[in-house]
Amino acid sequence: MAPINGTVLIADDEDQIRNLCVSFLQRFGYETISARNGVEALELASDRVPDIVLIDVMMPRMTGLEVCRELKARHSTQHLPVVLMTGMDQPEDVVNGLQSGADDYVCKPLRLPELHLRLSNLIRRKQMFDMLHDHNEEMIETLGSQSRTLTELFTLSLQMNKSQHLDELLSVLTNSLSRMMDCRRVSVLMFNRSIRRWNIVASLGIPQDVATQISLSEDSPILRDMSAGGQPAIIDPTNAMAVELYGANGAMAFSELPVMLVPLSFSNELLGVITLTDRTWAEPGHFAPTDITVLTYVAQVAGIAIKNRLRQEQIRETQDVTIFALARLAESRDELTGNHLRRVQTYCRRLAESLRLSGHHQKALVPEFISELWRAAPMHDIGKVGISDNILLKPGRLTPEERKEMEQHTVIGGQTLEAAESLLHHDSFLSMAKDICYFHHEKWDGSGYPFGYSGEEIPLSARITACADVYDALTSARPYKPAFSHERAVGIIAEGRGTHFDPTICDVFLTLADEFNKIRLELQDNDVNAQAVETTFAQ
Ligand SMILES: [Fe+2]
Ligand SMILES: [Fe+2]
Repeated sequence: MAPINGTVLIADDEDQIRNLCVSFLQRFGYETISARNGVEALELASDRVPDIVLIDVMMPRMTGLEVCRELKARHSTQHLPVVLMTGMDQPEDVVNGLQSGADDYVCKPLRLPELHLRLSNLIRRKQMFDMLHDHNEEMIETLGSQSRTLTELFTLSLQMNKSQHLDELLSVLTNSLSRMMDCRRVSVLMFNRSIRRWNIVASLGIPQDVATQISLSEDSPILRDMSAGGQPAIIDPTNAMAVELYGANGAMAFSELPVMLVPLSFSNELLGVITLTDRTWAEPGHFAPTDITVLTYVAQVAGIAIKNRLRQEQIRETQDVTIFALARLAESRDELTGNHLRRVQTYCRRLAESLRLSGHHQKALVPEFISELWRAAPMHDIGKVGISDNILLKPGRLTPEERKEMEQHTVIGGQTLEAAESLLHHDSFLSMAKDICYFHHEKWDGSGYPFGYSGEEIPLSARITACADVYDALTSARPYKPAFSHERAVGIIAEGRGTHFDPTICDVFLTLADEFNKIRLELQDNDVNAQAVETTFAQ
């Protein structure tokens, strides 16, 4: 059978011309459809779109020009080439035909070889057009999906960089990867220095009790390959290397499906490994080259974000320890109670958390405030470094002059931190620490020092610290007093409700009294000297 060059719709009311065209074009390898008038031509063109239309101008019911205009107006046939057949004595038909959108014309009587050439040229042009059109559609589709992927990547990158903590960052990462890669199970393994093993630190779709049991040794061949290659890799259950990953617990976590492993690196340091498995639509374990490209990019961006977060957390930890050590150094001259600062910061945190839970100061008591309070509270007495030994270490009662000087520790501490804060060009917890130093001896009724502030004039952080500090001072032995019992201390604080202490904070303290007692016992001083002094004064 001769190859089909294309399908031609022939429309002519004269049987002789129509039949001539049909037999001629079929001989040249065209498939033909024929219509006897314009209306029939339009119906046939809608039923089965041909490659070209050859149509007589003068026809009953609907002229060739009208058919042409209608075909060019319809979306499905607007690019269908139309060739008009017209008599030599009707030149105005040619102009009208071309104006109506026709692509070409042939004159009657027909010169059949010319007709063949004109039709084949137009069909080739249409095939080219169709090819470009399809290609264009594919490009639009590809660009659309690439643009969606880029938007996802951009959003992921922003969210990871905005995350305050590593846990939050990893949760953003696992959720995004699950959505982008259509994987039901995603996890991130990171190295735990204390046990020297790689554990799952964030996961999605893996039961928590199973995830916590997954653990890879430091010299795991899988991780060695990840470190060396730095490329995503599929670990198949049949692969010998997978034994460690697919151990008893691995099988539960990954369901014996192939797992895509993606290294999370920064420079040449392997920070973690992403595992992806259980795809919702593709063959298990099948990842297209574009998926690998996207995963590699995500891993690079995530590697930088994780490294930054780890560095920030290390800096923060170092700052915390340094601040705590300095605060402790400042206290070391007079305090024999080694855990005083630990207890005070723990009491402060519990008071702040409970205040928030009981519906008080919810706007102020955001997690950042509570974590800053935890860091700042130990600094409340750093100003004592400026108080002379004969006053600070005096075992008996202070004279009024000595008391005045002693009270200056609030101002010395506050001014020191104010000066330090002014050297920074950003908000810092030093501002809260400064408030705590200045105001932790103010009282709710205005009878405190150094400024005699009252009520909410006293910053919330200082009001909380005052309650925590007094409870600890009362329950600890000091050179001038024995340690009071927990019950007695609670009674004294209750008596100070609305005079010494903020009544709301005092109420929350009373609900937490048992918990404070537990914290006190857990963090009690094991310093032999402190205990000896405490015993002496308690007698
Ligand atoms: Fe103080
Ligand atoms: Fe204190």
